[in-house]
Amino acid sequence: MDFRIERSSWQEGRQDLERIRKEVFVQEQRVPEDMEWDGEDEASIHFLARADDGYPLGCIRLTPSGQISRLSVLESHRTQGIGKALLVAAEEEARARGMKEISLHAQTHATSFYEAAGFTVVGGTFLEAGIPHRQMAKELA
Ligand SMILES: CC(C)(COP(=O)(O)OP(=O)(O)OC[C@H]1O[C@@H](n2cnc3c(N)ncnc32)[C@H](O)[C@@H]1OP(=O)(O)O)[C@@H](O)C(=O)NCCC(=O)NCCS
Repeated sequence: MDFRIERSSWQEGRQDLERIRKEVFVQEQRVPEDMEWDGEDEASIHFLARADDGYPLGCIRLTPSGQISRLSVLESHRTQGIGKALLVAAEEEARARGMKEISLHAQTHATSFYEAAGFTVVGGTFLEAGIPHRQMAKELA
């Protein structure tokens, strides 16, 4: 399936970003709304994956401190390379901003996805929104 990755501010992309994250995190994964909308969105850079017709399929954000978060792809469009392309876009943005390291809180089911992209687990398991996570990091050479 063809898709494109688009860079976005929160203000520009808000409607589409909210739609994806509500479907994936709030509805599918039962993340409480007050945790999902954590106040980090305004200052973050966002990326949206869109189908050819513009329909929003997935998203990710990079915070000013170099944290990657909220990677999500609609269930109907998974395992087609969209998540990986979003992660690469956020990493390229971090490099362009001169960040030396990026980090993330990976849901434990996704650690191998991030390891394949060069991230390493750097700590133990902890709960966030009731979901087990591991801290992961990647040095940007
Ligand atoms: C995790 C997620 C973003 C992956 O998106 P995706 O578009 O399906 O991933 P891709 O198609 O780009 O997968 C890239 C590679 O990772 C693998 N992969 C995908 N999801 C994986 C997972 N959960 N665990 C391990 N490997 C995974 C794919 O098989 C693929 O391997 P390949 O390159 O050898 O073919 C998606 O499953 C999702 O939105 N899940 C729900 C929200 C979530 O858990 N987000 C992560 C928060 S930490």
